[in-house]
Amino acid sequence: MSFRTIPSIVAAGVFAVGLAFGAAGPHVVAQDTLTPEAAVAARIAVMKSNGATLRSAGGLTGDAAVAAMTTLSNNFAQYPTLFAEGLTTPDSEALPLIWEDWAGFIAIVDGAKAAADAGIAAAQSGDTAAYMQAVQQIGQACGSCHGKYRS
Ligand code: HEC
Repeated sequence: MSFRTIPSIVAAGVFAVGLAFGAAGPHVVAQDTLTPEAAVAARIAVMKSNGATLRSAGGLTGDAAVAAMTTLSNNFAQYPTLFAEGLTTPDSEALPLIWEDWAGFIAIVDGAKAAADAGIAAAQSGDTAAYMQAVQQIGQACGSCHGKYRS
């Protein structure tokens, strides 16, 4: 290996860590390597990304709005994996009701993802009213899930 290849390897490593633990980007986790501890850490990272993204989403337009909605859609797409049965720890705030009422939990996830996907389309077409409606629906999904499934 020449010394010239080292910086790009380091950069790739930093990028991978950023994907797993960054505050605002989408988070991609391989299902077959998930321990309960890793799943709880990953979903907290995803939730923090949700919070950071949603906080600014209402003021965005154009490509930035598309990017924010895409981050949220990708985050919601990972919930079924990150909340799979058995993936919890004593410190987790996830209530057992999630696994007793999996269909109800997933219905909220699917609704949130559908709202984010509608937000992508609205941002792409410049439909501000539809975009703001999507942002509002996502915020309601956060609240209704937390109210029921989080301690
Ligand atoms: C379908 C259910 C569901 C939806 C939708 C959801 N969350 Fe969560 N959220 C949870 C659960 C469950 C936890 C607790 C996770 C744990 O401790 O294992 C949590 C935890 C959190 C936390 C605390 C993370 C920490 O530091 O411990 C934040 C912040 C958060 N969510 C933000 C959001 C935001 C913002 C949205 C919407 C954009 C959202 N969540 C959507 C279920 C949901």
